[in-house]
Amino acid sequence: MDALTGEIRKLLIETAQHYMKNSYSPYSHYPVGAAALAEDGLVYGGTNIENSAYPSGLCAERVAINKAISEGNRKILALAVVTRNGGSPCGACRQVIREFASLEAPIILVNSEDGAEEEFTLGDLLPRSFGPEDLSRE
Ligand code: THU
Repeated sequence: MDALTGEIRKLLIETAQHYMKNSYSPYSHYPVGAAALAEDGLVYGGTNIENSAYPSGLCAERVAINKAISEGNRKILALAVVTRNGGSPCGACRQVIREFASLEAPIILVNSEDGAEEEFTLGDLLPRSFGPEDLSRE
């Protein structure tokens, strides 16, 4: 996609910051907020939702993406993630992003403590990946 406009980039980060506050993370005490820009032009926010049965917990990125997909979207154009230390999406989330985003899609990582922002593409974070086109018969 084209580079994000400053306005949309700001909206993505602010949405992720907002959703970080809704984190349900009584076990890890590691709140995460995410925001996904979808093909419908809307920004979908998500937070991590843990569970006393640990593997049943959900990552913020996948909550945000699943909200966008549930509303009928099939393309995620950009993603922002906010944590207290600029943490990067886990491997499972990278693969889910890969399903719906191009390798050029920007992924913005924000450190809520010092405000530092880093930007990568999905291809940077998940090189030599497997995706939907690998199952294409054409
Ligand atoms: N977490 C996320 O929400 N996204 C990631 O990509 C990394 C990890 C959450 C899961 C769990 O609630 C907490 O952070 C600690 O792993």
